[in-house]
Amino acid sequence: MSPENTGPAAVIVLAAGAGTRMKSRTPKILHEIGGRSLVGHALNAARALRPHELALVVRHERDQVASHIAGLDPQALIVDQDDVPGTGRAVEAALEALDARHLQAPLTGTVVVTYGDVPLLTGELLSELVAAHEADGNAVTVLTAVLDDATGYGRILRAGDGTVTGIREHKDASDAEREIREINSGIYAFDAAVLRDSLAHVTTDNAQGEKYLTDVLALARAAGGRVAAVVTEDRWQVEGANDRVQLSALGAEHNRRTVEAWMRAGVTVVDPATTWIDATVTLDEDVRLLPNTQLHGATTVARDAVVGPDTTLTDVQVGEGATVIRTHGSGATIGARSSVGPFTYLRPGTVLGETGKIGAFYETKNVTIGRGSKLSHLGYAGDAEIGEDTNIGCGNITANYDGVKKHRTVIGSGVRTGSNTVFVAPVNVGDGAYSGAGAVIRNDVPAGALVLSLAKQRNTEGWVAANRPGSISATLAEAAGTPTSSTTPATTEEG
Ligand code: UD1
Ligand code: CA
Repeated sequence: MSPENTGPAAVIVLAAGAGTRMKSRTPKILHEIGGRSLVGHALNAARALRPHELALVVRHERDQVASHIAGLDPQALIVDQDDVPGTGRAVEAALEALDARHLQAPLTGTVVVTYGDVPLLTGELLSELVAAHEADGNAVTVLTAVLDDATGYGRILRAGDGTVTGIREHKDASDAEREIREINSGIYAFDAAVLRDSLAHVTTDNAQGEKYLTDVLALARAAGGRVAAVVTEDRWQVEGANDRVQLSALGAEHNRRTVEAWMRAGVTVVDPATTWIDATVTLDEDVRLLPNTQLHGATTVARDAVVGPDTTLTDVQVGEGATVIRTHGSGATIGARSSVGPFTYLRPGTVLGETGKIGAFYETKNVTIGRGSKLSHLGYAGDAEIGEDTNIGCGNITANYDGVKKHRTVIGSGVRTGSNTVFVAPVNVGDGAYSGAGAVIRNDVPAGALVLSLAKQRNTEGWVAANRPGSISATLAEAAGTPTSSTTPATTEEG
């Protein structure tokens, strides 16, 4: 038992179901909202309780689900459910596995049960459930909600005085019971001993031939235990994702909550409806997000930065006061007070220094750009290192790929390159060097040198009149007073 585990004895997350309504090759609980799998959300809420043990019950697509869970939470105990169907059997399997871990004595204290497909459930609501359960010394405390349409859910049965007496599954309910709008969320706090003893008496004698966990409530009561409910007003926190329509509704609500929380934390969001922020993103105060911005993964945005409109960033670090407009970026670092966009594609390994610029129609990949350097318009920079205060002209390209291997371009500080310069890697350009328009740099350029790739320009006068007679070009050329077709074309070379 580690000192930080101050919560309940165990949380059991049920995740053995097939999720057939998803109609997917991906197991249901591996589908994502807010940049995190459904089961990832469930694990987060469970971990927030700081339980001594955390177990997940799996069966459908067992190996794929188990390895996903192990990746998220290596401490979690994976429990396999056998052929006996039902939530009761799932919990029984988990209890047996947990008890086997505690050979001295079986688990005692509070056991919380949740589902792997209820992604908006928070640790706070689970804590409230556990607090109520323990304060009142209950045998079972069930989390419930009152819905307009309770179809399909287990209904909460109460005595005349309001005491919870049990749960009736929809398929087993009478017409009168189906009128009940208070539903079982499937999330509970149990006393471990009561749970163990009651499950031993649960049968499969019901409409679905399953071992129902819900039967534990009536059994616990019959054995003299207190059974109670915590009713939540927040129906989203108990809503499961059973199909793609619910997945999308839950995703939108998750995002609405995330965006609202960031606004309350000091972030300006101009259009919450078109701003999507993963649960894993971090924003500072006074960040401004413009419409149609999506922030994913480990993206962070520092103070006073402006992102958007129409920008998607995945695992991108945006520095203080930077602006990122109409950009698609991943795995990049954008320095403080620098500017990116519009129409810019930042690929992994792009590192832009402070006050630098990657402008319109630029693609970058695996490139480090020093402080104050600017790549303003139309180009590609890949596998390169650029020093400080360098100005890369319009249309520059690093020709980094020879058809077999990638090669590096190293450009110094204070460099000025002319339009359409091509760096044929591997190549080095020294500090303070200049290049002329259209330079194709195949060999290293020393510091301070001017590099020109000159092919002489040749003007062949009268060529149009001779070769395109009667064309609009020829007519306009003639009007401009140039030689006509009767004259022999003259050629002059310059440079
Ligand atoms: C269950 C409850 C119902 C409640 C509803 C809330 C029972 C008998 N019924 O019904 O009262 O209103 O949840 O959503 O508990 N699971 C397993 N192993 C199994 C069966 C299910 O791990 O053998 C898991 C599923 O993966 C899922 C959860 O348990 O996460 C609920 O299963 P589901 O089949 O959706 O239960 P419902 O019939 O909807
Ligand atoms: Ca369900």
